[in-house]
Amino acid sequence: MTYLNFKNGDKMPIIGLGTWKSDKGEVGKAVKTAIKNGYRHIDCAATYGNEAEIGEALAEVIKEGIVKREDLWITSKLWNNAHKSEDVLPALKKTLKDLHLDYLDLYLIHWPVAFKPGVSYPEKDDDYLSLEEAPIIDTWKMMLQSKKDGLTKHVGVSNFSETKLKDLLLKTEDGPEVNQVELHPYLQQNSLIEFCSKNNIHVTAYSPLGSGDRIEAMKAPNEPSLLENKVIQKIAKKHGASTAQVIINWETLRGTAVIPKSTNEGRIIENLESTGVKLDEEDLEKIASLDDHFRYVTGEFFVTKGNSYSDIYDEQ
Ligand code: A2P
Repeated sequence: MTYLNFKNGDKMPIIGLGTWKSDKGEVGKAVKTAIKNGYRHIDCAATYGNEAEIGEALAEVIKEGIVKREDLWITSKLWNNAHKSEDVLPALKKTLKDLHLDYLDLYLIHWPVAFKPGVSYPEKDDDYLSLEEAPIIDTWKMMLQSKKDGLTKHVGVSNFSETKLKDLLLKTEDGPEVNQVELHPYLQQNSLIEFCSKNNIHVTAYSPLGSGDRIEAMKAPNEPSLLENKVIQKIAKKHGASTAQVIINWETLRGTAVIPKSTNEGRIIENLESTGVKLDEEDLEKIASLDDHFRYVTGEFFVTKGNSYSDIYDEQ
């Protein structure tokens, strides 16, 4: 297993199990299967609605002696309705309780978007707080506090553009250690990766396989299927590997962590085994040419007519 290294010597396993879209009743089994087969990094979030079941699975594998807590890397994320200073630590404590843990390895601000406390999924403008009403720096200070309090070993952000990272770095000397963003061959994020690397921020790739299991409402009509891309399929055939393994391997070669989601035992194992694929220069060039800045997770679900979140990725 390869790791991403942190200043204090901690190491994040480069491949983790994603749990977004893993249903209750399935996710616990998936986590146990993953850990029994060598995964040591599990990516979670309060809003996925499945942390309690993951927590039971973690407690079981630790109790059974399959793994020690200190050998696991557990990430979770602060949901958008808990950005107010007074809400950050209670949200983290709830996640810890659900996950049956005393501390996280990494806690991320899930989105640079704030909802009013109590709103799980906004339906109207009034459900949001603007970033003037809930400044990211205030939320960030509480993230740092949670680290000081020993509730998490590391802190970071998710879905932050270069612009938002720059802005945050101007306001704090203690910036994010990780930025978790959508990243795959159709959205290669070269400039963001370079910026993060210069600023000692690790990048984790979410939706690395194109997240084909998102609900229909989140899908664009005729969106391209990454796993059915002909170029990648051909490279996979050449190496006797699966398309998913080629994509995951490509992600790790670029020095980003990657968190493919699966609840299927065979695919969970297959994804971790992607480290065995040996992509050559020609393969890398072909994959590089696939970048067309296509997002599966557009963030449009945070846009209501009058709110200030129409350009979450600062691309307009
Ligand atoms: P499943 O959970 O049934 O394995 P992403 O990580 O980009 O969100 O993608 C998750 C989607 O990719 C899920 O539909 C998942 O299905 C599927 N998936 C995960 N691993 C593989 C694999 N090795 N081959 C094909 N599909 C996969």
